[in-house]
Amino acid sequence: MTDKTSNKMWGGRFAAGPDAIMEAINASIDFDKRLAAQDIAGSRAHAAMLAATGIVSDSDADAMREGLLTVLSEIESGEFPFSKALEDIHMNVEARLKEVIGEPAGRLHTGRSRNDQVATDFKLWVRDQLDACDAALVALMKTCLAQAEAGADWVMPGFTHLQVAQPVTWGHHMMAYVEMFGRDLSRVRDARARMNECPLGAAALAGTSFPIDRDMTAKELGFDRPAANSLDAVSDRDFALEFLSVASICAMHLSRMAEELVIWSSAQFRFVSLSDRFSTGSSIMPQKKNPDAAELIRAKIGRIFGANVALTLVMKGLPLAYSKDMQEDKEQVFDAADNLMLALAAMDGMVRDMTANKEALEAAAGAGFSTATDLADWLVRVLGLPFRDAHHVTGALVAKAEAKGCDLPELSLEEMQSVHGEIDETVYDVLGVHNSVASRMSYGGTAPEQVRMQVGRWKEILG
Ligand code: ARG
Repeated sequence: MTDKTSNKMWGGRFAAGPDAIMEAINASIDFDKRLAAQDIAGSRAHAAMLAATGIVSDSDADAMREGLLTVLSEIESGEFPFSKALEDIHMNVEARLKEVIGEPAGRLHTGRSRNDQVATDFKLWVRDQLDACDAALVALMKTCLAQAEAGADWVMPGFTHLQVAQPVTWGHHMMAYVEMFGRDLSRVRDARARMNECPLGAAALAGTSFPIDRDMTAKELGFDRPAANSLDAVSDRDFALEFLSVASICAMHLSRMAEELVIWSSAQFRFVSLSDRFSTGSSIMPQKKNPDAAELIRAKIGRIFGANVALTLVMKGLPLAYSKDMQEDKEQVFDAADNLMLALAAMDGMVRDMTANKEALEAAAGAGFSTATDLADWLVRVLGLPFRDAHHVTGALVAKAEAKGCDLPELSLEEMQSVHGEIDETVYDVLGVHNSVASRMSYGGTAPEQVRMQVGRWKEILG
């Protein structure tokens, strides 16, 4: 049923209420009720400022601040009667405040607008998400660090093109993700620092003639300063876009890691086994243990990056200052944030619980002639061959081993010497996978010593 009377908050010039379809397309309360706590915090800060500047009386401001807490507790207890006719969270809260405290509620909206109000609420909400994301990333990084430390010297194949390339260490592979999540963390912190300017007091678009104190509300709400241009303050959604792009890159990293877990947990690889707690069964094939959580994490980038694209397109081409298009900002961000947090938590649980299969990793490490580069390097270092010639000689040795159906260390010295006469038995020292990884001592290399150093560095950073 459409409310036949005009809107209580802005209906002064209207003779009739909205059409049902108008109300359906206009109302945002079904989703922006998630901003209730931020809306009330913003209103309480605004009320305190109105009193401090003498714009309203202390007793009115006290009544507003108290009444807003009552409204908050009603919302938190789930009793609050949200109304579509009241469009959004801002008007729902204010209308209820009027019922709770009467006349002083009408003074709360002095010197502000829903435009600066919604920008402030939404920013506070996104800021909370960045903080939650920060904590979740730190937790996940610590989990990866624990895996890296436990297997700092376990050898496994390193891949390029998903073809075995050179042996690496398990710890080194885990630490690659620590680096990725570390960049995500630094992007989260950058975004938080950049967004921390308060829109409240920009009013509808031009500021206000009331002697408001924007520094006071900014400080009260934990912002570093008030936003310096009122037109920009009400029409800026960069903070939401930055969150979505940070989230997209992070979700892309999670997707890559998830993909590796899917591959590694397969019967063909057996590099890791996932715990029962983070696996599912098949309803028809009793033997199956599926990595569903990893697959779902792998897919989450779709909706998160989708949200990023959607909001970018909503904002594109909007003239200054506020336009109702911007109401379309919230659902995308809510959905992306919920799913990013879920993906981070699921990845943390999965990595914490998983067991790396040291034997399978080591067995695979030597396969596919993974120490061929070590052999070429030996030919350069010991026999003084130019690298290009060494590459060629090694290629011939690989072909020999392939024809014989064995690995490089299983070629006899005579077989080696038939390709290059000066090769001697010290060559076998570099052909083992452990020798190979231990020799990669360059900074950032895969040697266990380097890995342990990086683990120590990150432990210090993360505390
Ligand atoms: N529900 C609106 C939004 O989310 C609040 C701002 C409305 N402002 C206005 N001038 N109609 O964007």
